[in-house]
Amino acid sequence: MPGDRDVFRAPNGTHDVLPPESDRWQAFVAAFAVRAGRAGFGMVVTPIFEHVEVVQKLGSSTDAVRKEMYDFSDKGGRQLALRADGTASVARAFAQHQPPTPWKVWYVAPNFRYERPQRGRYRQHWQVGVEVLGVDDATVDVEVMALAHGFYRNDLGLRRLRLLVNSMGDTETRSRYRDVLLEYWRTHAVLLGDEIARAEANPLRILDSKREDWQEMIAAAPQIGDYLTDAAATDFETVQAGLRVLGIDFEIAPRLVRGLDYYTGTTFEFQADSLDAAQNAIGGGGRYDGLVEQMGGKPTPGIGFGIGIERVLIVCEAEGVFGASATSLDVFVIDAVGGLASLALLAELRAAGLSADRAYGNRSMKKQWGAADRVGARWGVMLAPRESAQGNVVVKDLVSGEQADVKRDDVAQWLRKREDMTST
Ligand code: HAM
Repeated sequence: MPGDRDVFRAPNGTHDVLPPESDRWQAFVAAFAVRAGRAGFGMVVTPIFEHVEVVQKLGSSTDAVRKEMYDFSDKGGRQLALRADGTASVARAFAQHQPPTPWKVWYVAPNFRYERPQRGRYRQHWQVGVEVLGVDDATVDVEVMALAHGFYRNDLGLRRLRLLVNSMGDTETRSRYRDVLLEYWRTHAVLLGDEIARAEANPLRILDSKREDWQEMIAAAPQIGDYLTDAAATDFETVQAGLRVLGIDFEIAPRLVRGLDYYTGTTFEFQADSLDAAQNAIGGGGRYDGLVEQMGGKPTPGIGFGIGIERVLIVCEAEGVFGASATSLDVFVIDAVGGLASLALLAELRAAGLSADRAYGNRSMKKQWGAADRVGARWGVMLAPRESAQGNVVVKDLVSGEQADVKRDDVAQWLRKREDMTST
């Protein structure tokens, strides 16, 4: 149990996002929303908890379900789980509502996995992502990857990232490959120890293990690319050709099976070199053509990706891009008269479309001007006794230091005009 003092701190593996860091979050999500909107995606919002069966569709052999699920029973005795990723909920919502296809949605949402917290790995992490349901066409795979790529490169300005691509093939491919892979793991039963049971349940899961002592065995394991059926190989070639046409560099990663069981066909991951290898995935996704059916819907192909917000912001910092814009305010009101005058003036300034704030609690002039500087205000507007008596306020340009008396009733428009001039 946590000590008394710890209970009033954010739980282990979670974090608060405060200004000015939250400005970056806002800008990040806004840029993603614009990019997704331009590509024809609408926003989807699903519950933060689901029936446990929905989350279990990530796969009984995955860490996310075996070890990391936040499951609980509610006061009505229902078995529920906090969302571990966006895809399961989106597939469940699709099966439930049966919207017309293609169904293209984007989301921003927190996910919950009971991981061992470290830099870039949290128990609550946030993702932005997209999903396309109802399109069985390898060129859509390319479009989806291009969307993520454009976001990283053009909206955030990241340069040092790699796109890894693989294909999990079709049902026949996977069934053949699983058999071959399991045979191979059985020849390493001693090294695998108890985990041989996991290999038997899903031979693919051993491939994404980070265990040092297994890496040699994993490197020599059979590769799925050698077992693709002709149809699966043709799709994978279309994906590669599409990426080349769009000028997107990629590497083929034959062991990229990803950590969730629902993947079929194309899988991909974006990695950043500036993160430790264990946490260098800044986004990933792929096809999941069987998931909607597993949620009780009609067989429906699907593809999408999720991008981890916290991780990507760490990478942005390392690359010196997408910095926090200094909080800026148009106007700071300095009140030397008291009463309700500053309240009314602020309301007018804000109604005129200016961002405006003030100090609270009758602070000294020096402190109020100091506060105006600290928040990076562009203008100071002072309500002073002598000028007020003449119907004026004092406006100070906080960049040049110049000041002038302006009619109180005209000041909002006066500032607006100057703001409009500087922003064009
Ligand atoms: P995922 O690879 O598990 O895929 O997560 C996507 C991204 O979320 C990762 O690349 C990483 O950036 C971030 N992430 C995951 N776990 C954590 C964590 N514990 N702490 C911080 N960041 C994390 C999915 O979730 C799939 N739903 C993606 C997808 C969408 N596939 C198809 N559609």
